[in-house]
Amino acid sequence: MADVVLGIETSCDETSAAVLVGEQARRAPELASLVILSQDVHRVFGGVVPELASRAHLAALPAVVDRALAEAGIGWSAVDAVAVTQGPGLVGALLVGVVYAKALAYARARDLIGVHHMEGHLFAPALEDPELAPPFVALLVSGGHTLLLDVPGWGRYRLLGATRDDAAGEAFDKVSTLLGLGYPGGPAIERLAGEGDPARYAFPRPMLDDGFEFSFSGLKTAVVRYVRSERARGEETPLEDLAASFQEAVVEVQVQKTITGAVDKGVRTVVLGGGVVANTRLRSLMAEHARARGLELLIPPPELCTDNGAMIACAGFYRLQRGERTDLGVGANPGLSL
Ligand code: KG4
Ligand code: ZN
Repeated sequence: MADVVLGIETSCDETSAAVLVGEQARRAPELASLVILSQDVHRVFGGVVPELASRAHLAALPAVVDRALAEAGIGWSAVDAVAVTQGPGLVGALLVGVVYAKALAYARARDLIGVHHMEGHLFAPALEDPELAPPFVALLVSGGHTLLLDVPGWGRYRLLGATRDDAAGEAFDKVSTLLGLGYPGGPAIERLAGEGDPARYAFPRPMLDDGFEFSFSGLKTAVVRYVRSERARGEETPLEDLAASFQEAVVEVQVQKTITGAVDKGVRTVVLGGGVVANTRLRSLMAEHARARGLELLIPPPELCTDNGAMIACAGFYRLQRGERTDLGVGANPGLSL
């Protein structure tokens, strides 16, 4: 008998649903459909406007779920459980997904499982590689989080280091705004960086040899200060070189800490997740260093790095298999800890 899980993700500005089908005899579930609707409305504001995100989720979610079911070629009667992002994220945005998932589970008498958003990111590589199993060290980098985790087993997460200030994605977004490249910043900076010289500006590599904690706020300030002083002198800053030099600094710090973490913990595998992992330079430099250390590296394809319902369905699937269920009385939890 197959376990069919509907995954719902609405924690930020992507309205997404996916259907995951797991044969009980097999270990790994298979993705039957994935629908991701990126909210465009925030672009003109240069960042996510929480109230607009909630409203856009509310308008789109029923159609996104219907589409995911249709693309999977199944009706509601085939769904065994609903997995939904419970937190962390924007409270109003989360609430839309949680309330919708609870209503579905209640009305159809199906199981409900609440998922931690970052645990979802951690499970994204498992969608591609059914053999993926701990122990491994994971770097999870998104717009709101920068986490280096030691994972001895699924569901067991030891924090090696987090950011003291800005998240990695947040740094991309803020520098992008400063350079007038718009939101979201990561893809915009990466596009420009491709035409620039990463060695042109020697931006700081914050806390590079200083344990497993991160700090990106000072780096962002260094870029801001540089641009302002150039402008004050009436000089035009080559944006391509700035973007490339900034990206290189952020990427180098993440690669060094992750590889050192893996060596330190004596694991053979490194896993990456979160929106920032869509970055081509981060992927290639990490691959280069992992290879040099004889480490296996697992990176989800770009569309599974950014927020999506498939990773939530996947994390939910593993929890359901362990017999876990979430009570229908559950609420959205914007500060949920891993
Ligand atoms: O995981 P995600 O989709 O949403 C959160 O949970 O926050 O991550 C979004 C973040 C944004 O800060 C965005 O600028 C960044 O991921 N991002 C990138 C790239 N694509 C998205 N950062 C660097 N390079 C990219 N190609
Ligand atoms: Zn995310």
